[in-house]
Amino acid sequence: MTPNHPKRKEYRIMEATLEVRPAAASSTATRYARCVEASKRVRWDIDRDVIRGRQFDFAMKFLPDGLSMARELGFLSPAESMFMSQVQGRTYANVFGLVERYIGVKTLELAKSHSMGDQVAVEALVRMTDEELKHQELFRRLDRMAGAGMPSGYRFLPDPNEVANAVLASSTWAVLGLTLDIEIFTQAHYRASIEPDAMLSPLWKDVFLFHWKEESQHAILDELEWRREDAKLAPAERDRAVDDLIGLVGAVDGILRVQAEADADYFLARSGRTFTAAQSKAVHDTMLRAYRWQYIVSGVQEPRFGEVLTALVTPEQMARIGAALAPIVAHVGRA
Ligand SMILES: [Fe+2]
Ligand SMILES: [Fe+2]
Repeated sequence: MTPNHPKRKEYRIMEATLEVRPAAASSTATRYARCVEASKRVRWDIDRDVIRGRQFDFAMKFLPDGLSMARELGFLSPAESMFMSQVQGRTYANVFGLVERYIGVKTLELAKSHSMGDQVAVEALVRMTDEELKHQELFRRLDRMAGAGMPSGYRFLPDPNEVANAVLASSTWAVLGLTLDIEIFTQAHYRASIEPDAMLSPLWKDVFLFHWKEESQHAILDELEWRREDAKLAPAERDRAVDDLIGLVGAVDGILRVQAEADADYFLARSGRTFTAAQSKAVHDTMLRAYRWQYIVSGVQEPRFGEVLTALVTPEQMARIGAALAPIVAHVGRA
């Protein structure tokens, strides 16, 4: 952030001015309308478009190397590296099923907050809710399909409803900040999935493609709703919301730590050979690094996320958020 960054107060004045200008109002309305139009255009069906009667090929990777980091463990054989990507792929399905539970509930609440107002905004948010329900079903299917061909013993530990209740207890401003991070990183994941790789499962490539097609609209709606919520807050409320956002990132990281531990133990127990203590430690560490990259840092580092956040917070608040993220970003090592 530059020293010339406008102070929070100046932003408030700009936003207050924008809110009453018809041109700005219509540009916001146009963005909701474009989301509805794109949502109708790209709409897909789980069976007809994504799964198409296919099963997983367990001789292929589920997650691309850019997400799984499996190739960074030079002591793994190609088959072990593939198994690691499959363990992470199954957790990918479960993590999305988990976060989409709270996102769907929050989006319904946001739709209701517009209910007597902009009907296009209501439609955009109702469509988003419907899409998230469909995505949850898709990811439940993927988890079952992965489970059918993987060794027993895999466990996904967090409970979606417990996590949803905990997340939704935070301020809407913070929930929308976390949601923008999540929905924007599907873009980064799609990019990683289209890197040339003959061993990446074609079905998983389609999952990344089709999920991203609908998440693109969700990320735009998150931004619109985050700015709308932000305009309602007094400085002290926003300051507390920044603390809430930091708390949510910490809670997500806590979930990732627990699941990375479980997945590393499962991988080590089911790989069919023994590893040295140093190798086991490296598997645990890489699992957590990969999850922190997938579910926190790949979104935070998307330029759009930074642009929106910078427009909403003061330099001091931005520094607080940066300090909270710093150990996670440093551990991932892809700054
Ligand atoms: Fe989704
Ligand atoms: Fe979404």
